[in-house]
Amino acid sequence: PVPVITIDGPTASGKGTVAHRVAQALGWHVLDSGALYRLTALAVIQKDIDPDDAEAVAHVAQNLQVEFHPEGVRLDKLEASELIRQEQVGNLASRLAPNPLLRAALLGRQRAFRQAPGLVADGRDMGTIVFQDAQLKIFLVADVQARAQRRCKQLIEKGISANLKDLLADMRERDARDIERAVAPLLPAQDAHVVDSSNLTIDQTVQSILDLWSR
Ligand code: CDP
Repeated sequence: PVPVITIDGPTASGKGTVAHRVAQALGWHVLDSGALYRLTALAVIQKDIDPDDAEAVAHVAQNLQVEFHPEGVRLDKLEASELIRQEQVGNLASRLAPNPLLRAALLGRQRAFRQAPGLVADGRDMGTIVFQDAQLKIFLVADVQARAQRRCKQLIEKGISANLKDLLADMRERDARDIERAVAPLLPAQDAHVVDSSNLTIDQTVQSILDLWSR
């Protein structure tokens, strides 16, 4: 089978950046599964769908017109990369994510990214559900302070105002929602390697994953 490395973990653990860098180093494809949840959230807002209508939300996900390209992603032929990064969209994605019909609707779309020579998939349930047979599973953690500080720095660099106290509270809330949900809760797969990046640079984190892969 085409090899897959899964990278799961909590919000702002650096999964996205690390997944892209690992994929680049290996010359593999990358799946940002969180982007699919965010794109669904964006479409739900744009189409004025009731977020609590589980079937309607799943229907939106089933019919998403998504096109990933090297610089980002288009939704219904329109550039959506910036839009899906908004906090409002991320928050709605987090609220929609427990919907089992939505998760089922996105399953095939995610698995279709598994193409030669290989795939690095980042998310919450890549190792536990979507790619259970992955050759290497990483659970990337970092303490909540480190994650909030990173997110704060990122936002300020983008010229968006941010304060650490609010981000910390928001992050704790998202962690709780990810961990406590009944469907696909955020947990390391039994065969996952836990990597703690609290005191690692991005380069060191990427290298530790590449080392595990080449072992
Ligand atoms: O890192 P952050 O939480 O800001 O966002 P993300 O990784 O882009 O994911 C957006 C939302 O989708 C999160 O709230 C996750 O709970 C959810 N998600 C999920 O349920 N399953 C995945 N495989 C990926 C994301």
